[in-house]
Amino acid sequence: MLASFFIFMTSCQSAQELKSEQYFVEGYQLYTTHCSNCHQADGKGMSNLYPPINGSAALADKAFLACIIQNGMTDKIKVGGRDFNRPMPPNKKLTDIEIAEIVSFVTMKWKKDSTFTDIETVQAALKNCKVY
Ligand code: HEC
Repeated sequence: MLASFFIFMTSCQSAQELKSEQYFVEGYQLYTTHCSNCHQADGKGMSNLYPPINGSAALADKAFLACIIQNGMTDKIKVGGRDFNRPMPPNKKLTDIEIAEIVSFVTMKWKKDSTFTDIETVQAALKNCKVY
């Protein structure tokens, strides 16, 4: 009884780990195509033009991340004590799952999240986006 419960727990965890790896790899590719031109491969941004994602407080807010990936942003913002006010373009063609993969990649890579961000989290966020 106890033993079979244990086996269930273990296989459940590795499914989660497998999915995290998949999202990370897919997210990395999407980041390279859609984000790294501006924010750079190392996520550190570019001078006063493009803010860093690596080290940004924005990584703590997955709803914000999902919304700006889809809709872009035009606000003035301060990241790491520096001002940025260029517009970030929207990505209207990305699917919800692709957005979840990008959110997973940036939060696992630069906030050391141990697991992926699921599509349900992203879809709930996208229903309630503000204009940034
Ligand atoms: C054309 C350049 C460009 C591209 C491509 C781009 N961004 Fe941005 N991004 C910006 C700019 C400029 C800002 C600051 C916007 C502002 O000041 O309102 C920004 C802001 C951000 C922020 C909030 C500030 C911060 O760094 O914490 C995040 C997070 C972010 N972008 C992530 C992404 C992700 C993920 C992608 C790919 C889906 C992406 N960006 C694609 C230019 C870009």
